[in-house]
Amino acid sequence: MDEKRLLAGLVEPAGERRSGPSSTFRRRLRLRVGYIAALCIIGLTVCAFLQPKPLMEVSNWSPMATKEEVAMSKTPIIALEPAKGAARPVHASRRLVPLEAHIMSKCPDAVDCLRDLVLPTMQQVYDKVNFTLSFIGRPTGDGGVECMHGPAECMGNILELCAHKLNPDPKIYLGFTMCISRDYEHIPDRELIEGCALEHAVDFEALNECATRDDGQYAMNLLRDSVQHTKAVGVTKSCTVRVDNEVYCIRDNGEWTNCPAGPGVHDLIIKIEKLSRQN
Ligand SMILES: *[C@@H]1O[C@H](CO)[C@@H](O)[C@H](O)[C@H]1NC(C)=O
Repeated sequence: MDEKRLLAGLVEPAGERRSGPSSTFRRRLRLRVGYIAALCIIGLTVCAFLQPKPLMEVSNWSPMATKEEVAMSKTPIIALEPAKGAARPVHASRRLVPLEAHIMSKCPDAVDCLRDLVLPTMQQVYDKVNFTLSFIGRPTGDGGVECMHGPAECMGNILELCAHKLNPDPKIYLGFTMCISRDYEHIPDRELIEGCALEHAVDFEALNECATRDDGQYAMNLLRDSVQHTKAVGVTKSCTVRVDNEVYCIRDNGEWTNCPAGPGVHDLIIKIEKLSRQN
């Protein structure tokens, strides 16, 4: 009987037979529907609260993230202030002091030199210097370059030069260079290069394009020019730091040499500030 009543209640047209057992059933049905609807709303609300967090975390790691998002989600190795595009104080009587580091991409002395002297100095006085990263190698008769640690080092040098070409801001290309230098034994493994490019907002595809343009001739010319410049100024050791076109300090075989003023960051900063005030 109950079953019959149930069926009758379901097929009964609306508005008929307001009283009786089937209307009790309808009330029950409405209650149940209401209960289910309430559960759904609570469920959706809980989901809405929980969803955005993981979604936001994912977007920070996404390769589609903008440069700004990537920059904000990472602690940069060097934080140079003010940001690109911000107004710079104008010092009409000041000049940019030439600061140059001559390196080889697979040389442990270059890692120490960038990490302990060049980067901390740049953090403080980047707006007072004209910074150049130059490379050490041997130009060959056929228009190529020979690198002390082999062709892999030449490729590392080329990637660092291309990163500079693509990103004139030293914060970016020095950050990228420092990043791959920390793991210099793996230069130029794709995984390392791609990881450091992502971390420092260097366009990996553009980097690849630069390194392979005109069958690599474009990048080889960049390296050859850099190596020839190093040779012309008489530098042979990685890493040699020059200030105002004079040797300031050399890092060689794990030791600081030729550093009359010492290898201290503070002393180098003082020297650069002094030179920038002279015309
Ligand atoms: C920085 O130095 C290079 C040569 O090393 C020069 O070509 C360039 O014009 C200089 N830039 C500024 C802004 O002084």
